[in-house]
Amino acid sequence: MLSFFKKNKQPITTLFSKTYIDIHSHLLPNIDDGSKSFEDSTELIQKLSSFGIKNFVTTPHVMDGVWNNTSKDIQQKLFELTNYLKSHGLEDINIRAAAEYMIDNNFEKLLSNKDLLPIKDQYILVELSYFNPPINLNEILFNIQIAGYKPILAHPERYIFYHTNYNKYHELKELGCLFQLNLLSLSQHYGSKVNKITERLLKDNLIDFTGTDTHNIRHLNTLETINNGKLLKLITPILENNAKLL
Ligand SMILES: [Fe+2]
Repeated sequence: MLSFFKKNKQPITTLFSKTYIDIHSHLLPNIDDGSKSFEDSTELIQKLSSFGIKNFVTTPHVMDGVWNNTSKDIQQKLFELTNYLKSHGLEDINIRAAAEYMIDNNFEKLLSNKDLLPIKDQYILVELSYFNPPINLNEILFNIQIAGYKPILAHPERYIFYHTNYNKYHELKELGCLFQLNLLSLSQHYGSKVNKITERLLKDNLIDFTGTDTHNIRHLNTLETINNGKLLKLITPILENNAKLL
């Protein structure tokens, strides 16, 4: 009986395989609202590594007028962090960089210049405002694909305006948009509404990929506490999908 309970209380941090790649995080220092220093980045990466996550495509924000990061800035920061990690003995970490692109005017410019950093191949990570979706979202998704990219929408469960318009999730999938769930949505971290819609999206097989969206150590302390057996059963097969982006 004891082993039964023990088995069902395994936290999510025991479920990552060697081929898991975290495709959403803010691990590059001083480039957005994530890591604040190289020491910070190292602490976050060491903690993620203790969960068995050793592969990363980190995704700083690119948001017009807020985080004006260029592809060059991001690649330069990655170069600096990679050197820092090596010189501090973190040799077994595989880290690349892409971006989390807010769909705004600047994004449309980057798209027409094909100046986007992909997660892998043609997959790009995009996000929406939490307040309202772009009016021309369907057209933008079309343009992304015409340009040869495949859009992955970051944390669809966090866009509250779709909770009461649930069919929009199906529509976005039909329009070729892939979905990346934040693992913290398996907890109450973003509130109970986000947690509830997460369960529904998982049950409806709408989630393609997962990510930690790590900004700080508090996120990882919360991630360690996730041990809801019902949700973990739903997420376990989906965790394997990330290996396609390794
Ligand atoms: Fe993010």
